[in-house]
Amino acid sequence: MTIGIIVYSQTGNTLSVAEKLEQSLKENGYAVTLERILAENDTPRASAPMSLTFSPDTTPYDTIIFASPVQAFSLCPVMRQYLAQVSDLSGKKVCCFVTQHLKKPWMGGNHAVKQIKSACESKGAPLSASGVVNWSGPTRDNQIADIVNRLSHL
Ligand SMILES: Cc1cc2nc3c(=O)[nH]c(=O)nc-3n(C[C@H](O)[C@H](O)[C@H](O)COP(=O)(O)O)c2cc1C
Repeated sequence: MTIGIIVYSQTGNTLSVAEKLEQSLKENGYAVTLERILAENDTPRASAPMSLTFSPDTTPYDTIIFASPVQAFSLCPVMRQYLAQVSDLSGKKVCCFVTQHLKKPWMGGNHAVKQIKSACESKGAPLSASGVVNWSGPTRDNQIADIVNRLSHL
């Protein structure tokens, strides 16, 4: 099984969790590749429209884990745009996690996961597992450990 972790991360939080997951999957013997979605004009104050400068190809992977920050109580625009243009995901196993600053998953995290779920379903793949990390919450480290544990036994 080849696993792709496809990450968008603006300030490094989501990437740090994705790297822990990558390490754990490797320790469990999986062939795993972490790829970053890159974008320009992806900050709130950007003067030009946001555009993707690197969109990882999903076709080499049997299993894909999408990882993204929450922005404005929703899935961030970069991941939304990426998922809208991604190729068909039929037959693939798809999981995801999101990170957010606020303390509770209902403050945008759950909504962002639903948006990923719906985007993946529209490309032919049901979402198998998901997680939310509340970066300023008291259980952040446990949330990260739980996501790494659940998603590294695929
Ligand atoms: C433009 C913008 C909007 C944000 N909106 C939210 C939000 O609605 N709710 C929240 O909990 N965190 C929000 N955040 C915080 C990020 O979701 C959080 O810091 C996340 O872990 C960043 O991940 P990254 O370091 O991988 O980019 C926002 C951050 C930015 C830059």
